[in-house]
Amino acid sequence: PVVGTSRPHESAHLHVSGAAPYTDDLPEPAGTLHAALGLSPIAHGKLVGIDLDRIRRMPGVVAVLSAADIPAENNCGPLLHDDPILAADELRYVGQPVFAVIATDRELARRAASLAKQVIQAEPLPAILTALEAHKAGQYVLPPMHLTRGEPDKHLPSAPHRLQGNWSLGGQEQFYLEGQISLAVPQEGGEGLLLHCSTQHPSEMQQLVAHCLGWHAHRVAVQCRRMGGGFGGKESQSALFACVAAIAALKLGKPVKLRVDRDDDFLITGRRHGFDYRWDVGFDDDGRILAADIELVSNAGHSADLSAPVMARALCHFDNAYWLPHVAMHGFCAKTNTQSNTAFRGFGGPQGAIAVEMILDGIARRLGLDGTVVRERNFYAADQDMTPYGQQVEELHAQPLTAQLLASSRYAERRAEIAAFNASSRVLKKGLAFTPVKFGISFNVAHLNQAGALVHVYTDGSVLVNHGGTEMGQGLNTKVAQVVAHELGLPFSAVRCSATDTSKVANTSATAASTGSDLNGKAAQDAARKIKVRLAAFAAERFGCTPELVAFADGQVSGGGHSLPFSELVAGAYLKRIQLWSDGFYATPGLHWDKAKLHGHPFYYYAWGGAVCEALVDTLTGESRITRADLLHDVGTSLNPALDIGQIEGGFIQGMGWLTMEELVWHPKTGMLTTHAPSTYKIPTANDCPTEFRTELFGIANASETIHRSKAVGEPPLLLGFAALLAIKDACAACGPERCDPPLQAPATAEAVLRAIDSMR
Ligand code: MTE
Ligand code: MOS
Repeated sequence: PVVGTSRPHESAHLHVSGAAPYTDDLPEPAGTLHAALGLSPIAHGKLVGIDLDRIRRMPGVVAVLSAADIPAENNCGPLLHDDPILAADELRYVGQPVFAVIATDRELARRAASLAKQVIQAEPLPAILTALEAHKAGQYVLPPMHLTRGEPDKHLPSAPHRLQGNWSLGGQEQFYLEGQISLAVPQEGGEGLLLHCSTQHPSEMQQLVAHCLGWHAHRVAVQCRRMGGGFGGKESQSALFACVAAIAALKLGKPVKLRVDRDDDFLITGRRHGFDYRWDVGFDDDGRILAADIELVSNAGHSADLSAPVMARALCHFDNAYWLPHVAMHGFCAKTNTQSNTAFRGFGGPQGAIAVEMILDGIARRLGLDGTVVRERNFYAADQDMTPYGQQVEELHAQPLTAQLLASSRYAERRAEIAAFNASSRVLKKGLAFTPVKFGISFNVAHLNQAGALVHVYTDGSVLVNHGGTEMGQGLNTKVAQVVAHELGLPFSAVRCSATDTSKVANTSATAASTGSDLNGKAAQDAARKIKVRLAAFAAERFGCTPELVAFADGQVSGGGHSLPFSELVAGAYLKRIQLWSDGFYATPGLHWDKAKLHGHPFYYYAWGGAVCEALVDTLTGESRITRADLLHDVGTSLNPALDIGQIEGGFIQGMGWLTMEELVWHPKTGMLTTHAPSTYKIPTANDCPTEFRTELFGIANASETIHRSKAVGEPPLLLGFAALLAIKDACAACGPERCDPPLQAPATAEAVLRAIDSMR
């Protein structure tokens, strides 16, 4: 079978040989010019003027553009119109694009743009650099969000035990290996525009470019064959680069490419929101949560971007796998003078769920119980299955999945072994932790859950698929091609996917919220089935049987005792003027969501998982490593186990990196992001992988009717990384008195680990 079997990514051979073309590898049309951005040197101020003439005199410079050169709307914000492409009168953060230099080559453009500090005249204003400062001042990019169920006010004071705390969690840079890039090529004498853009959201790039030009959408086409990673960072934030390239290309009548340097990419674009929490939780003697009141403050940065849906997803994931009878959640998106934070794998879900994991860890330590026991007591169960936002949890996978993982990882035995080790080891300490995952699949906004596809069957029997999803390394095109090959009974090699293109499938949603294969797989299946129905009718006539008896398998079409190669049947159908291509469409059923009340049925289903991590900590230096990780993750019936395992391992490592080593530091006075390059911002490498790394698929079919009963896998495994942080915390606790609760911050860098240990001594 083509579906359900492991096979490599369709471009794996091109990826590893360096032959896969990314946007910067496309041949440049003759006369292509190159852009670079001049960035704000201050965190907040009034823009008084720019000495553009000084830039114009620099070698190779063809033009300099500022906000005044934008033909129509100066905005690249996806939801609110609060995100200038180029600063107009206010400077909002260090790194904000203020002008664009267009030059004959990229180096000359960058050299001229680097004069920004000398040519930008501004009057500085006081800046707010942290979310808590903004929260205190009541400065938000959006109104606060509240989600309440039951009567937490009543049940908090009456609870036998109370846990109150604050916690702060850092953000995370997407660090896609291919940086932001757009190549804009004027078409039809400047009446049209073709944009090659590394983006998860070609349709939104098309719209935002059209808006800034004052054009109708049908004049702009956006293409993306593949990205060298997106991780959410190219959902909305590819727009600024697309708009600048487009404006420059049309102004000059020449192709313009804008590929930003890594440091500029860090300084211009936002990333995962850091969060600050305040919680107040009541629980019983067994560690069961009775009531919770939690405040979540995200650092939104200078504009709204996707902060609203990110916060909504955070609030919808605070419950994680747990029944919270009485709960009040308060979400604040703080407005600061920093980059505008955005989507990153999990889209706020991780920031919501980790809070309850920290709380449960604290409860277990307070009561002197094992964290896993306390977690199991709080799991959703048969008559405690209603989420705070009103969706029933139908598949109760937490219990069986956890039981299987605890057994396969020898959790109980290793807990005893680690206690013995710690008793005899003074400097090195070990820790162990288990955390579960429940992650809602679908966009929280119902209308985004739709997709389209086009399937072409050519007369030689080969098949080309085009769908609305984008390929960023996750293997979406491989899965969609598998689905179509399966439907037509063809070998995988007979089907190819082509570049995402707004002129092929219109009005696509972002490839995000892990929905890529759920949505586009179904849409492509729909298209393939329409063709199959026509071919079956044609074959039935030739075979002298009914269409229902015609079967498509192994490249053959058979029925009524006859059989023909698929290619022969197709060639014959063409001569009979039968349509050999079709569109397909899919809309996820049963979703509704009340944005104002934060209530409804936002998710088609949940993906589940669990991780057990063991950490080794050097309590003198604070260094740590994860020595073993056991992951058990639910992908329903896998479309492609090899790709799914790759996503699970990658997601886990990315989550572990976020929580243990990736640290963002803004200069407390200037507001400059000081960690803007790989020299200072450390993502995990192959050497940071757990020494023992075991990943298994849970392997139970999705109860919801998804494509071949599979489940989305892109984001949920990132939350498995929680266990890495809590294992390190567990090792820290071995340095303190019994029932201590080390105040470990995330990321748990060596410094953070030492601070946590010191505070207990
Ligand atoms: N995997 C790779 N290799 N590269 C990526 O950029 N992005 C992640 C995830 N896995 C990403 C990835 C994110 S944030 C999402 S939402 C999903 O892939 C999107 O793709 P899917 O919906 O097809 O799973
Ligand atoms: Mo993924 S954060 O939804 O692009």
